[in-house]
Amino acid sequence: MVILDFIRYQQHLMGTKIGCREGDCGACTILVGEIVNNELRYESMTSCLMPIGNAHGKHIVSIEGINFPDTLNPVQQAMADCGATQCGFCTPGFVVSLAGFCLSDVAPTKENAIAAIDGNICRCTGYKSIEKAAALVAEKLQGRKNAVDFATEQKILPAYFSGIQKRLEEIISTETKSLLPDPAGMKERPHIVGGGTDLYVQKHEEMTHAPIRFIFDHPELNGVYKEGNKCIIGPSATVSDLKHADLFNKLFPEFQHYAKLISSTPIRNMATIAGNFINASPIGDFTIFFLALDAQLMLSDGTTKRELPLRKLYKGYKTLDKKPGEHIEQIWFEIPAGNTHFHFEKVSKRMHLDIASVNSAIQLKMKGDIIEQAGLSAGGVGPVPLYLEKTSEFLKGKK
Ligand SMILES: Cc1cc2nc3c(=O)[nH]c(=O)nc-3n(C[C@H](O)[C@H](O)[C@H](O)COP(=O)(O)OP(=O)(O)OC[C@H]3O[C@@H](n4cnc5c(N)ncnc54)[C@H](O)[C@@H]3O)c2cc1C
Ligand code: FES
Ligand code: FES
Repeated sequence: MVILDFIRYQQHLMGTKIGCREGDCGACTILVGEIVNNELRYESMTSCLMPIGNAHGKHIVSIEGINFPDTLNPVQQAMADCGATQCGFCTPGFVVSLAGFCLSDVAPTKENAIAAIDGNICRCTGYKSIEKAAALVAEKLQGRKNAVDFATEQKILPAYFSGIQKRLEEIISTETKSLLPDPAGMKERPHIVGGGTDLYVQKHEEMTHAPIRFIFDHPELNGVYKEGNKCIIGPSATVSDLKHADLFNKLFPEFQHYAKLISSTPIRNMATIAGNFINASPIGDFTIFFLALDAQLMLSDGTTKRELPLRKLYKGYKTLDKKPGEHIEQIWFEIPAGNTHFHFEKVSKRMHLDIASVNSAIQLKMKGDIIEQAGLSAGGVGPVPLYLEKTSEFLKGKK
């Protein structure tokens, strides 16, 4: 089951709301705390798309978990003071997202507070009053150093948060076994689940009964790092993992801007890169991004491995060069040497929180003013995400 149903129907905590069940509205937002590089990190996620298997070893915080017994917390108070709630259906989601902002290490500016609620939709209150509440919350965080300590000391969040790191460290949390081949004679092949943001939208009912392999927290399948002149990305790395990775920001100075064009904060915290590739949408934003880099895949069925360029993965609409038992084990691309330029473009009806009408990416390696090497990709112009092989070849040697 997804965490949303566990919270509401097993734990009988009804503060977390059900809106769209498709990751779009944010009414079901929760916070997920885990230890990353020895530090406690909280991220907002949509509980309607998060399978319970991805909660293993983590601190799951519903709206009830940030309440004080006798008084409103400062986030709730700011929402009330600014008239930022009317029917109240969306309010728990906004409050949880803003609580997540109080626990994050981003600069406590008004802009960042508003960015933290980019996955929340309200039908009745004017957004201006919600933005004012967000600005008030940002004001309360001025001068903070350690986010969790500050939030508990200033009574923004309950005191128990300061003991969570120790409690999480005591849990042996991660599944370290490699992905084994499917057992012989198995009737149904298990679904591989990354962040679940595609599967739990497309196949919600089916997933309830399907055998599942959870790979979101698999240590071998995570991380962003450099090896020689290769940038290696674990298939379960999320969009937010790339946003946090120094290496990625160094290679793509505009990356924070590109990431903002893709879904919303809670979805970026869940959506994996391999999930984007296998989803095989002709407008998959990260597929287009990585196609221009001529990214390579390592596919494995648990016993045999093979390499495949990403551009060769797509054979037809949602038809892949991938055997049923294979999974993506690693993604990499050559770090371009010398004078290289990269750009990603997404055109959609709305600038934010929308799928692309078309998208494209380009990488050019220059020698003086001559193009030495080019990689172009385009989405939404055919049944599959395209690597523009002929155009890339055509541009070589041109001024
Ligand atoms: C509200 C919302 C907004 C969105 N906005 C965007 C957007 O702006 N741009 C965009 O491109 N996408 C968007 N998406 C789509 C989705 O979030 C992405 O495609 C995401 O990257 C999927 O990753 P996941 O880990 O959540 O996939 P999952 O649902 O876990 O898996 C998707 C598929 O990939 C397979 N899979 C996952 N990992 C592996 C692996 N290592 N090897 C083999 N198979 C694997 C699964 O079996 C499944 O078939 C949005 C989705 C939602 C719900
Ligand atoms: S119910 Fe709408 S995002 Fe989950
Ligand atoms: S207050 Fe009614 S949906 Fe936001």
